[in-house]
Amino acid sequence: MMLHCQKIGRELPPMLRPATADLLTRHASLLLDWVDRYGSPLNLIWPQALKENLAALRGVLTENGVRHAIYYGAKVNKSAGLMRTALGVGAGIDVSSLYELRDARRLGADGARVVATGPAKTGAFHRELVGCGALISVDSPEELEDLIGALPARTSPQPVLLRLRPSDQSKSRFGMPADAIAQCLARLSGERQLRFDGLHFHLSGYRWESRATALSEAAGLISEARRMGFSPRMIDIGGGLPIQYVDPIKYRDHLAAQTTDDYRTGKIPESFYPYGGSFSASDWLHLLLLAEMAQGRSVADYFTREGLCLAMEPGRALADQTAISVFKISRVKALGPDTHVIFVEGSSFSACETWFASEFLIDPIHVPAAHVPAARPSLSATPPGRAYLAGHSCLDEDVLSNRWLSFSVAPQAGDLLVFANTGGYQMDLLENELHRHPMPARLCVAGDAQGQPYLIPDTVEEA
Ligand SMILES: Cc1ncc(COP(=O)(O)O)c(C=O)c1O
Repeated sequence: MMLHCQKIGRELPPMLRPATADLLTRHASLLLDWVDRYGSPLNLIWPQALKENLAALRGVLTENGVRHAIYYGAKVNKSAGLMRTALGVGAGIDVSSLYELRDARRLGADGARVVATGPAKTGAFHRELVGCGALISVDSPEELEDLIGALPARTSPQPVLLRLRPSDQSKSRFGMPADAIAQCLARLSGERQLRFDGLHFHLSGYRWESRATALSEAAGLISEARRMGFSPRMIDIGGGLPIQYVDPIKYRDHLAAQTTDDYRTGKIPESFYPYGGSFSASDWLHLLLLAEMAQGRSVADYFTREGLCLAMEPGRALADQTAISVFKISRVKALGPDTHVIFVEGSSFSACETWFASEFLIDPIHVPAAHVPAARPSLSATPPGRAYLAGHSCLDEDVLSNRWLSFSVAPQAGDLLVFANTGGYQMDLLENELHRHPMPARLCVAGDAQGQPYLIPDTVEEA
């Protein structure tokens, strides 16, 4: 049984892959068994979805004749199954810590498949990156000096990118402005142990237009580097490709109809992720490749004619539809004549958008514990008319949804609430062991020849 919670008339049901929808409908009793067995919240992963996402992006790049390298942004999710799948289909991995690097290596990545990003790499991280010849995106002149200091004598040249901070991002602490890039190039020209492979940037926000502008700035620096005798081979445009979580028209209508009364806080959050944006990641990439750079050349033309590889590090876009997070309801508590709070086993650290003063604007799915008896009231008609969702901690802020939600069938202890499409940061960015609750279980879902779902461990060790 699958029932959406909703703002009546302005529902935001999640888009679901067939395998996920099937689990929530045909195999709901199996899901209830899994939660009994592995605890709540339970994070379920479909690595196959990452393969499909990767194939879609590759299709756009290939269609446009652009040589490319896609690095899966491993920071988006701690799942080993997702990293293993990305490597299995020939993607690289973007690592931002020693531990992501070690997992990638244990899953079979050689250094040539790894790019390391982030502004605060430690000496130990540098040493292991150099040890395997991974590509290092250097964030600052200071990092360049540290890296040079960490190079062992007589290694083969260590490949580096220089991370650009485009001129319209002057408040960012990531990357360096064009003059600092020029300074690093001058330093590199006297340094035989390092090989300049190209430029990198990663921008916040989800607009392809800002990437096109940054590329124009990068193109000037690539020409400058060539004049200095370097042979750059790539520009890495980072991540930031969008996901469509919900139908764009429903999303637009929902935003337009929102009122302060929809939130228990009496306030509409100032910003939301664009959950129902107009473009899929593939549309976005297509638009970027068509965007105009200098002299009327498109981005695709630029890369082809300059013989450059377009690298990218999508995290969220590759994690699209790869996961759900399942919470068991522990109690439904009345707050007033028609308002309730639904407590779940688990916390908002496992569904964390509220910690960013925002909201995961996708209706959770209500899976009743057993066949719904005719006697179970409809809550749109009877109290509680609406409810918000809270976690099991003693923190007042531990709220999974500040939105008042309505239910077509009264939720009860033992029922499940399923957050769909949580693979992109939502499910595990902030997870922790507050109150010494164990970390949520995470397992991969596979299907047998008859389409019956089963679970496999999601560990680095698992074959
Ligand atoms: C350097 C870098 N690359 C890639 C990503 C992935 O971004 P997204 O998940 O939006 O694709 C991030 C995210 O913070 C990042 O900092």
